[in-house]
Amino acid sequence: MRHYYSVRTVNVGVIGAGIMGSNLARCLHSKGVKVNIYNRTRERAEKLAEELPGLRVYDSPNKLLRDSDAAIVLVADDEALLSVVRAITSEEYSNAPLLLNVSTVTPMASLEAMRALRERRVAYSEGPVYGSADEARECRLVSYIACSSDAYERARRVAELYSTRVLYIGEPPRASVLKLALNNIGLSVPALLAESLALLRAWNIEETLLLEASGGLWFKPVIERFWQRVFAEKPPRFTVKLAVKDYSYIEKALLEKGVNPVVSTAIRKIYEEASRAGYSEKDYPRAAYYFLEKSSKV
Ligand SMILES: NC(=O)c1ccc[n+]([C@@H]2O[C@H](COP(=O)([O-])OP(=O)(O)OC[C@H]3O[C@@H](n4cnc5c(N)ncnc54)[C@H](OP(=O)(O)O)[C@@H]3O)[C@@H](O)[C@H]2O)c1
Repeated sequence: MRHYYSVRTVNVGVIGAGIMGSNLARCLHSKGVKVNIYNRTRERAEKLAEELPGLRVYDSPNKLLRDSDAAIVLVADDEALLSVVRAITSEEYSNAPLLLNVSTVTPMASLEAMRALRERRVAYSEGPVYGSADEARECRLVSYIACSSDAYERARRVAELYSTRVLYIGEPPRASVLKLALNNIGLSVPALLAESLALLRAWNIEETLLLEASGGLWFKPVIERFWQRVFAEKPPRFTVKLAVKDYSYIEKALLEKGVNPVVSTAIRKIYEEASRAGYSEKDYPRAAYYFLEKSSKV
């Protein structure tokens, strides 16, 4: 057995039953882990419990934490993380729980969560992940852990339940910062594609030539990876609204340290415009399609 926790006896809470939280719950359930779940909109958690027998639905993060060895938080943004933290009261937890924040948040919010939880005697770890819905469901995420040395063993053991790779990054907020730095690269590709495709269309050149002409170039696999997701409507794996959020967090984190966020500001505007035009719940590469359609109407 690779895990210190026996998967059949460990109780893992999942806070947030969105795309990532529900797929992570599916992964844990498939391994025989006892899963407790809380979601702000209870019906969403109940729907998941119908699919996954044995899943226990909770009314508050506080009660869930009391019944769990660790709780994984997968909520939208800074405000959502801090509202979960605020719902955790200062009562004594006999189980000395760990809160593992997997949501992508600013380093500022992560530090605020850590400080608030310390006062409430709850251990805190950052654990942002790389990978999306499929990787979460199939327990194939890559996890970046940042926490104090005494919380590390527990955080690692929980992350190993759903990850193929767990990297220790140091103390918070190092993992939050690293995650934003990685997303700045990964999420930029559809925005770059948007402008390249618009350039071709503006000069009456067929878009498929980009794919063809990139044959043999180092970035052909990058274009190929996104091509279908730009031109065909697929179920969202990562929404346009989350791309807007991540770029605004990259900007904020840079500004916090006095660095001018030139690139992230430009890319945020592309996603923001698509979001306002009704693309907010769509798969994020569709923002390139929106941009292309818009530019051809000019
Ligand atoms: N999707 C991905 O590929 C991916 C990959 C890596 C990391 N992430 C990160 O993982 C997190 C979750 O992503 P997701 O794709 O699962 O998002 P999602 O499908 O939009 O789900 C968002 C979740 O956050 C909850 N929430 C929103 N505002 C809240 C608030 N104020 N208080 C409490 N709960 C709140 C929602 O609850 P309701 O149901 O009540 O709205 C829902 O459970 C985000 O930080 C995202 O950046 C996502």
